[in-house]
Amino acid sequence: MSLAIEEAKKGEATAFPNPMVGCVLVDSKNRLISKGYHERPGGPHAERMTLTDVDVVSDGAVLYVTLEPCCSWGRTPPCTDIIFEKNIRHVVIGMLDPDPRMRGASVAVLEERGIKVQVGVLEEECRQLNRRYLSIREQNRPTIALKAAITVDGKIVGYHGDSKWITSSKTRMHAHQLRSIYDGILVGSQTVLHDDPKLNCRIEGGRNPTPILLDTNAKCPQEAQVLHVGKRPLHCVGPHAPLRDELPVDRIVCSLAADGRIDIPPLLELLYEKGMYTVLVEGGAAIIQSFIRSGCVDVLELYVGAKFLGGGRSFGEGCNFTLPEAPHLILRSVSSLDSDVHLSYYWGD
Ligand SMILES: NC(=O)c1ccc[n+]([C@@H]2O[C@H](COP(=O)([O-])OP(=O)(O)OC[C@H]3O[C@@H](n4cnc5c(N)ncnc54)[C@H](OP(=O)(O)O)[C@@H]3O)[C@@H](O)[C@H]2O)c1
Repeated sequence: MSLAIEEAKKGEATAFPNPMVGCVLVDSKNRLISKGYHERPGGPHAERMTLTDVDVVSDGAVLYVTLEPCCSWGRTPPCTDIIFEKNIRHVVIGMLDPDPRMRGASVAVLEERGIKVQVGVLEEECRQLNRRYLSIREQNRPTIALKAAITVDGKIVGYHGDSKWITSSKTRMHAHQLRSIYDGILVGSQTVLHDDPKLNCRIEGGRNPTPILLDTNAKCPQEAQVLHVGKRPLHCVGPHAPLRDELPVDRIVCSLAADGRIDIPPLLELLYEKGMYTVLVEGGAAIIQSFIRSGCVDVLELYVGAKFLGGGRSFGEGCNFTLPEAPHLILRSVSSLDSDVHLSYYWGD
């Protein structure tokens, strides 16, 4: 299991919002046959990385995996299937997966097929690997990434109301890779009205996220592009919004916060129940402010365009933290995209 934990750590910079997972297969004499880890969302899970090129194993082989294998279809097939295919008869698991699709269900699936399963080996070390993932899952809400394009002076919209385009077309394509990773993509009603975005993923082979529109009074125009490309949107409205049966959306009636807008924490619980395990929040300014204030932010994906506006609306304006109370960010990665820059941070406390 120690070796599986070392494997898992190889995904430290790339696996999130998925958990880091490592896996090791040994023979009856405890000799290493193969090992693998989960590198990135959408990529093969650690069990598949470990087992795909292995022949059907002889008796006595043991598979060690840091987190309960999955038993349901996501973007990849269930890992329990490849465990059956390769005739693994003994599986040792570091810890159960708190994801509502698992929570011990995979252990039952394996045991039903007569496979010996042990759970809880080096459990504390396995929990430490995925502290961030576990804390989000235990809150019964999706993992939230804030994404914004800002100028070098921190503006997301100019003084004259323009925001197209802060970054280059190459940078915008880079941002589309993020859309492919997340289950949902969330924007406010003003962004729909001003920008008429499609919110789909326009890279080859990319996966469309489900659009989530926060529109308290159901003002979304029938011709909005987001309603007619990509996945069917979730239309989040307040309790007094007019019925809009003509819109091709799934309507979610939400409770309101004291400011009369959709209350973020209960909304996130509803989205989680609907299978939105990861959500990319793309703005605009009011939505960003509400998410930061709600304390429900896990990752910041910031694209800094090589532009200077000298006026307009700043990223996160209105939060007005003092320095001691300001959220502490932890850098995940920096990459330059010609003159633009992509910065990815974990959002701390
Ligand atoms: N640079 C970037 O990365 C970027 C990204 C996106 C957008 N933008 C720009 O941002 C501008 C829009 O920003 P915005 O601040 O005017 O509007 P917004 O954040 O897109 O939408 C705000 C609206 O959403 C609704 N809403 C419902 N629940 C809410 C909640 N809990 N918190 C906040 N809003 C809630 C409210 O309208 P109702 O109550 O009427 O529903 C609110 O007025 C556009 O000009 C767009 O171009 C920039």
